Amino acid sequence: QKDVGILAMEMYFPPTCVQQEALEAHDGASKGKYTIGLGQDCMAFCSELEDVISMSLTAVSSLLEKYKIDPKQIGRLEVGSETVIDKSKSIKTFLMTIFEECDNTDIEGVDSTNACYGGTAALFNVVNWVESSSWDGRYGLVVCTDSAVYAEGPARPTGGAAAIAMLIGPDAPIAFESKYRGSHMSHVYDFYKPNLASEYPVVDGKLSQTCYLMALDSCYKRLCAKYEKFEGKQFSMDDADYFVFHSPYNKLVQKSFARLYFMDFLRNASSVDEASKEKLAPFSALSGEESYASRDLEKTSQTVAKNLYAEKVGPTTLLPKQVGNMYTASLYAAFASLLHSKNSSLGGKRVIMFSYGSGLSSTMFSFRMREGSHPFSLSNIATVMDVANKLESRHEVTPEKFVETMQLMEHRYGGKDFVTSKDTSLLPSGTYYLTEVDSMYRRFYSKK
Ligand code: ACO
Repeated sequence: QKDVGILAMEMYFPPTCVQQEALEAHDGASKGKYTIGLGQDCMAFCSELEDVISMSLTAVSSLLEKYKIDPKQIGRLEVGSETVIDKSKSIKTFLMTIFEECDNTDIEGVDSTNACYGGTAALFNVVNWVESSSWDGRYGLVVCTDSAVYAEGPARPTGGAAAIAMLIGPDAPIAFESKYRGSHMSHVYDFYKPNLASEYPVVDGKLSQTCYLMALDSCYKRLCAKYEKFEGKQFSMDDADYFVFHSPYNKLVQKSFARLYFMDFLRNASSVDEASKEKLAPFSALSGEESYASRDLEKTSQTVAKNLYAEKVGPTTLLPKQVGNMYTASLYAAFASLLHSKNSSLGGKRVIMFSYGSGLSSTMFSFRMREGSHPFSLSNIATVMDVANKLESRHEVTPEKFVETMQLMEHRYGGKDFVTSKDTSLLPSGTYYLTEVDSMYRRFYSKK
């Protein structure tokens, strides 16, 4: 198959959100800590009516409807998520309700889990299926869905929630350049969820930042090596038009791009200008360990990479800043921001993606963008996702109300025998929502 990749996308995030500026004040953090320090503007969260299952039902049914895809045309469906609702029954099986209605139960695939990486694992699986001899000619579907919530403390403002659905097939406007790919996998305890009675992770924030940057370095080196092997010349940031990062919070994305710039400097790649070389020279002798710890290097590289960041990363940051960390959906929401801001002008461009999931699994890979033809065109994908409208029509709540919701959700987590609020006024029509969890822990959903 030629040009296998993403044909269509749809995104859903809860209409309920809290402003980071208000949260900062409420938490007693110093002014600017969440907005400038972490680089975040706003954070979406699920009310008692929503969860990762309802969000993914909404994203999938909306994608099928808006691109006029017959549910019978789906041959594989994979879900990436790290939000545990059931230790055995996959989220994918809940999504089967949409397909069973149309008499299609012939759909391969289940869930993939490893922190924020599960969505990428699911995407690779589906792309591999389309490229394989088991492909039956139908579309694949990938869903990334997560609700990121943290206990009170410094990690709380780095939550978020969303679901993204992606239709996969050949001749795609967002095509994989499968030759250029680098992975780094390792055993670390930076962020994990060992307490099965709680939705909150155990997180070593500082370690998770360093692990992320080390994984980034390692993946970039491997991608560069593969590029050089196939193209016979060095890869540098000049060879890609945009860089999209998994975005736990925007500051880490700024640091990541600066890190790649420093890596290009160390390899003496063409993208680094003379003035920057001079500024970075004092850091060239640092060991790997020292370079992760050096605040001076961090600040200097961010300064010299600033203009290039605005050009190659800036257009990817809107949704992660406005919605927060969406775990598996975070990278693809950053990519959706790029489609939103640049849509049809992306034809012919190369986009480098970096996926990171704590624990840890990470891959850097490449997309080649093509204009495509309706309904699978870059501009139609941007129109369908309708990002600006979705952001505008949100409902801001006070930090007090947000904390109250977190407390209710803590209480409900793993619980049974409850019905949810009958007030669905904040949900847009077409949204699925949780109505009840019965005495057998069975979950029931309705569509507004
Ligand atoms: N004005 C401006 N900036 C400020 C202010 C202020 N008033 N106060 C603090 N800052 C800056 C700090 O200087 C720092 O920025 P810098 O790193 O550029 O120097 C930034 O705000 C964060 O402050 P810290 O004190 O360093 O960190 P904090 O204790 O708030 O924790 C952390 C931040 C570690 C990100 C925490 O939110 C966390 O644990 N989050 C979850 C883990 C995570 O997302 N890890 C990323 C990869 S793993 C994953 O995806 C889940």
